[in-house]
Amino acid sequence: MRRYAECVIDGRKDVRLLEVGYGLGVFAEESENIGTEEHVIIECHPKICAIAREKYKNQKHIKIFQGFWQNFNAEKCYNAIFYDSAVIGEDIDAVEELLQFIEFAMKNLLTDDGIMSFWYRGNKIDSRILDFLKKK
Ligand SMILES: C[S@@+](CC[C@H](N)C(=O)[O-])C[C@H]1O[C@@H](n2cnc3c(N)ncnc32)[C@H](O)[C@@H]1O
Repeated sequence: MRRYAECVIDGRKDVRLLEVGYGLGVFAEESENIGTEEHVIIECHPKICAIAREKYKNQKHIKIFQGFWQNFNAEKCYNAIFYDSAVIGEDIDAVEELLQFIEFAMKNLLTDDGIMSFWYRGNKIDSRILDFLKKK
């Protein structure tokens, strides 16, 4: 997670980071260790949101949006995005959802010079991801 944080922040000081899926908060912590100007976390689980809110209650630049990324509306203002919302055992096609997110984020959330990355589980990347990225 440290490496993901370094990649999306990329040494910049003016980072407006959007994170999808707080989970155990590992990525959030790594990225805050580096430093962000603004950090918005989208997390759908109420209890996980409560943990995140408690942890970051004194850090005004960190905001927690409770809900699904599919319902998140914002301006195209984030210059760093990290996506990790897959839950093992969920009956969804995680790759399809990831591709939907990338499409949505590029159109609505990520600045033209922004950097986006995502967590991928598995030891072989799904060809749908490669095909999708080749077209971008
Ligand atoms: C694997 S965990 C994230 C782990 C996190 N990156 C870390 O470093 O600890 C995935 C999280 O995404 C959340 N999640 C799943 N689907 C979501 C969605 N559609 N929108 C927002 N959050 C979602 C889950 O509740 C869970 O907390």
